[in-house]
Formats: sequence, C-alpha cells, structure tokens
Amino acid sequence: MEIKRVACVGAGFIGLGWATLYSSKGIEVILHDISNDMLGKALKQIKLNLLFLEKHRLLKRGCTDVALKKIKTTLNLTEAVYPADFVTECVPENYTINKKLFKAMDEIAPEHTILASSSSGLLMTEIQKATNKPERCVMTHPILPLHLIPLVEIVGGEKTSKETIMKTYKFMDSLGRTPVVLNKEVPGYIVNRLSAALWREAVSLVSTGVASAEDVDRAFCKGIGLRDPIFGPCLRAHIAGGSIEGFLDKLHESYTERWKTMETWTSIPSSAAKKVIKSVHEMNIIRKKTFVEIEELRDEKLAKILKIMLPKHPFY
Ligand SMILES: NC(=O)c1ccc[n+]([C@@H]2O[C@H](COP(=O)([O-])OP(=O)(O)OC[C@H]3O[C@@H](n4cnc5c(N)ncnc54)[C@H](O)[C@@H]3O)[C@@H](O)[C@H]2O)c1
Repeated sequence: MEIKRVACVGAGFIGLGWATLYSSKGIEVILHDISNDMLGKALKQIKLNLLFLEKHRLLKRGCTDVALKKIKTTLNLTEAVYPADFVTECVPENYTINKKLFKAMDEIAPEHTILASSSSGLLMTEIQKATNKPERCVMTHPILPLHLIPLVEIVGGEKTSKETIMKTYKFMDSLGRTPVVLNKEVPGYIVNRLSAALWREAVSLVSTGVASAEDVDRAFCKGIGLRDPIFGPCLRAHIAGGSIEGFLDKLHESYTERWKTMETWTSIPSSAAKKVIKSVHEMNIIRKKTFVEIEELRDEKLAKILKIMLPKHPFY
C-alpha cells in the first residue's frame, strides 16, 4: 500500500524535521501537538527549513509553497492519526507517555497503518506491549538536523513483523533516506552507541588535560570526521591493514595498549564534567558566535557536503 499521508505526533525539533522531509517529498502531513504554540512555531521553522533546502538546490525552486500546502495542523489526535497511512511519533522520551500514546494511536489508526516512534533511547519491545497490534509498531530513529542528515535507523521490537520493517525500509528509501535495519534491539542503536564511546573519550582527554575541548574537536573534525564520511570504521580498518585480517593482527597490540589506558566510566564523574564545561566555554567559536549562528554555520557546511555525498553513496 502506497503511503500518501503521514501523521507527525509531536511538533518539536523532530516532529517539524519529519514534517519538512515528508512535505518536501510531496507527502501529505497532518502535524499534531498538544500545544497550539508549538504548532505555530513548527510551521514557521518548517518554512525556513524548506527555503534553506531551496536555496541550496536540495529542493526544486518554488517548491516551498507546494510543500507547505501539504501540511495541516491539529490539536486532535484522532484527526491526525485516523486518515494516516504512516504515523511518526515524536513526543518526549518517556515510557509512560509513549505507551499511553501508542495505545491511543493503535485504537484510532486504520488496520494498514504503521506506527513508528522516533525515540533515541526507548525500546519498542516495551512500548508495543501497550497495543493490540504490536506487529505494526517500529522505531525509526532520525539524526538532527533531520531534513539534512539522511540516516534513519530502523529497529523492531520482539513483536514487530518483518512486513512492517520491510514497508518502513521501502518508505524511508523512497524519501531519499539511507535506512539501516538493526538485527536486534540495543539501547542507543548504532549511532548513539558510537557517539557515546566517542564522547566518553573526548571528556577523558579534556578532563585529564591531554588537550583542550577546542583541540579535541579540531582533531576530530579535520581528522576522523573528514575521512570517515567516505568509509566508516569497518572499511577503514580493512583498507588500513591491507585486509581486515591484517588490521586485526598487525594493530592488535597498539589498540590493546590504548584501550588499557582508556576510561570505562558508565557515568561522567563530576570533577571531569566541571573541567569539560570550563574548556567548552573557552572555545573560540562559543565566545564569538551565538547558538543560532553556530547551528546556521553547521547547516550551511552540511548542505555543501550533502551535494557531494548525494545521490546516495554507491555502496551504502
Ligand atoms: N532532539 C534530538 O536530537 C533527537 C534526535 C533523534 C530522536 N529524538 C527523539 O525524538 C523524540 C522527540 O524529541 P524532540 O527533540 O523533538 O522533543 P521536543 O521536546 O522538541 O518536542 C516534543 C513535542 O511533543 C509535544 N508533546 C508532548 N506530549 C505530547 C502528546 N501526548 N501528544 C502530542 N504531542 C505531545 C510537545 O508539546 C513538544 O512540542 C524523542 O523521543 C527524542 O528522543 C530526538
């Protein structure tokens, strides 16, 4: 069944990001929130996002108005979910809120409709327990800024059907996204687990005085960050070692030496947090630019990178 109409439940950062994406691809969107104020703010930001895409030729000229006409807003959950072929939930991350909402959406949504959550940290196995049709519930985890970053992690719960995963994959693919399906549920999925490992090491380097926050970020952006959009850690290892077997064999000892000196924190000690806070506030960019200006700078650069990276990577 073709997905023509999507309900976005929650109109914060993620909800408005999904609404930008769907509407820019010609899909009808019904944006729902419990706050009228949030709906108004979301519409303004969606327009800015679409104009930004148009400016960078990531959206055809003149298509902002066409896309905006695809979006309706409502404070009523039934009005949003009943006509939808696909529901994207984007409310704050909390099992009580999510389970209550999924129960209600499951009662309202037509039989064929897929119910997807954007949650970064909750498990679908737990949320879907609140529904009568758990097989149609799935995680679709996006990355901010959602209208620019193509990755969507698709994660089923124990009761999610293969059909739901397959339909969700096809839908995301048809929107020009790069979907990745996880074979099993794990907190943080792929992206946030990799980020968590990197963040712990960044905090450790700064808090032990190895380098400032500015230099850790510089090393990342002009080193790993620049190289790894092309490969990724697994292919990089294969190429760097002459083969993956060679990498594991030749670099085994030096990696072991590094790992021996690295932290295994499961929470950041307050002494380390204090040092990192001080160092981040000393960063040049933080002293010279506002939060909004930094985000704008990021998005301008991202749009340029995207033009090189798109159409999709031939192998990924
Ligand atoms: N912000 C991120 O970087 C990010 C990235 C990926 C995924 N996520 C996930 O996306 C989800 C939404 O995050 P966000 O950053 O957009 O949050 P947000 O706080 O910006 O927006 C949440 C919105 O949900 C609305 N809301 C609250 N309860 C509701 C209800 N019962 N029904 C309808 N609307 C309701 C709020 O009014 C608000 O507008 C979370 O699960 C989060 O983990 C966030």
